[in-house]
Amino acid sequence: MNVRVFANELEAATACAGLVAAAIREKPSLVIGLPTGRTPLNVYREMVALHRRGELDFSRVTTFNLDEFLGLPPDDPGSFRAYMERHLFQHVNLAPERIHFLDGSAERAERECARYDAQLAMAGGLDLLLLGIGSNGHMAFNEPGENLQSASHRARLSRDSRQSLASLFGEDVSRVPLAGLTLGMGALLQARRVVLLAFGVNKAAAVTGMVRGPLTTLCPASFLQLHGNVEVWVDTAAGRGL
Ligand code: GLP
Repeated sequence: MNVRVFANELEAATACAGLVAAAIREKPSLVIGLPTGRTPLNVYREMVALHRRGELDFSRVTTFNLDEFLGLPPDDPGSFRAYMERHLFQHVNLAPERIHFLDGSAERAERECARYDAQLAMAGGLDLLLLGIGSNGHMAFNEPGENLQSASHRARLSRDSRQSLASLFGEDVSRVPLAGLTLGMGALLQARRVVLLAFGVNKAAAVTGMVRGPLTTLCPASFLQLHGNVEVWVDTAAGRGL
């Protein structure tokens, strides 16, 4: 794992948007995996700024978001789809047919997950995967537990994850859905290049576990140690245990 410690979050976010722009210049039809949460907000803001300056053209880019809440239709303001519209999609020139999302309101979760995995396979997998990390070491909605799953699946959300997502629901954790649909570990680990961002002291233990700890299903991100092309970009607070 290639760990880089930035002086602050904004520097890392700016560098990450620059990396995305360079990757798209090199391969205009890039297939990119996108996270939600607080962590990528400045990255998306920088990507929008680059697009407005004419330095980032999304017209041939394909996106796959990592996860979605179960039971929420895409136009629910709390959904990850709505978050992506607000922070990125509505501001850039992505072709709507190249934006891919798990549909949390699909009647049959299993079929929806199979559909999503097939779509990702048809697109050739992820060229670049941007990731955040949960303070419990989760990636997307692959939560710590006895098992991890390779394929997309329905996941029960941990208390920790629901707490950290309360801001999407007016800070009311009781309104955060109990489950989600998520890409599995297979799609994440098969991405050709991974950039994981983590900021703030409450991510420090997860970052240390991911980089230095044993491979364990209790810290799903630790499996990134097996990947040959991972960059972990942290601020000094998140990197303090390294
Ligand atoms: C959420 C998302 C993840 C995200 C993580 C960290 O539950 N499913 O994709 O990386 O938690 O969120 P944040 O960036 O808000 O700390």
